[in-house]
Amino acid sequence: MTSIELAKDVYWVGAVDWDLRNFHGHETRRGTTYNAYLIIDDKTTLVDTVKYTFSSELKKNIRELTNPKKIDYIVINHIEIDHSSSLPKVMEFAKNAKIIATRNGKEGLMEYYGEDWDIETVKTGDELKIGRRTLRFVEAPMLHWPDSMFTYLVEDEILMPNDAFGQHLASSQRFDDEVHESVLMDEAAKYYANILMPFASLIIKKIDELSDLGVKPRMIAPSHGIIWRSNPDRIVDSYLVWSKGETKKKAVIVYDTMWGSTQKMAYAILEAIAKHGIDIHLFHMRRSDISEIMKEILEAKAVIIGSPTINHSMFPTISAFLNYITGLRPKGKIWASFGSYGWGGGAVRDINQSLKKAGFELLEPSLEVRYVPDEEKLQKCREFGEGIAEKIE
Ligand code: FEO
Repeated sequence: MTSIELAKDVYWVGAVDWDLRNFHGHETRRGTTYNAYLIIDDKTTLVDTVKYTFSSELKKNIRELTNPKKIDYIVINHIEIDHSSSLPKVMEFAKNAKIIATRNGKEGLMEYYGEDWDIETVKTGDELKIGRRTLRFVEAPMLHWPDSMFTYLVEDEILMPNDAFGQHLASSQRFDDEVHESVLMDEAAKYYANILMPFASLIIKKIDELSDLGVKPRMIAPSHGIIWRSNPDRIVDSYLVWSKGETKKKAVIVYDTMWGSTQKMAYAILEAIAKHGIDIHLFHMRRSDISEIMKEILEAKAVIIGSPTINHSMFPTISAFLNYITGLRPKGKIWASFGSYGWGGGAVRDINQSLKKAGFELLEPSLEVRYVPDEEKLQKCREFGEGIAEKIE
């Protein structure tokens, strides 16, 4: 991809990773991008780099616009490899560039790359004049790492928040008004649910703080995916909704099954809930993508987890799912569990222990069935589903 102009003398010079299908553990079925931006002013400034495998593409894009040796500043909003790992290559041609990062960013860069680079640290509210433009910095620890920060182009009113407001979406288009709305929001929700959800309270505070700092962007240019230019409030408002744990009349069942008993239970529970007009999604854990499940859970009011008992506990896939989801700490939901067993149980007990340990609101009693659910037991499953539906309503 070639460079794209965001505003006069402000360019996207990043790379599109069409082939990426897994980003540190979650599936990226639509690939991703590593967005870097070049600002040509009295001082030529590069904001972020790209994953090291695309460093020649970054250089090519810069060269289309200016002599790469002329770069004066390199702003590193975030040190994670997908954004900083072309820095050694960039420093080979931009030998005199000064790097701008947070204090944590500087430490991380020195530890990652061990180079004696000229790194200036900045903190929230600091500004850098690069000519007719001003860069204003806002520290954003844990969005996504302790070193993260946002860079705001004051005169252009463009916010470059790195990981925040991104999506893993490879596209030949760069702007929100050029891609299908439902695809864009689907990927934005999936990205939030799997990467930023644990930091919900920090996101709410950061959005408030941006306003207090006079950061009112007309364009939001994240470091992954599409740039929000037609309506940047759309993604900010969605982040507020997600971060506050606001939910819809929606439920998600996640289950695994050994010989089909737990599956029969799951279908009976689903049938009862669906009768109430509740949007319900069902995932067989071994056949499903965990990051897609998280996207559906994001706005669900109820999450219902089912497992057969194996070796006195839950199925390993359900255990892994609970480990993942309790780390992401979704808010504002009710949780329920069910399962089947042969002789001694244990799956439901252990699911409930995990949910309680995570501080989730557990709907009790849970439902357990011995061996195969007959019609009487399936009726109990429907009644169990009815109880959950009433809670959702
Ligand atoms: Fe896109 Fe936290 O890296």
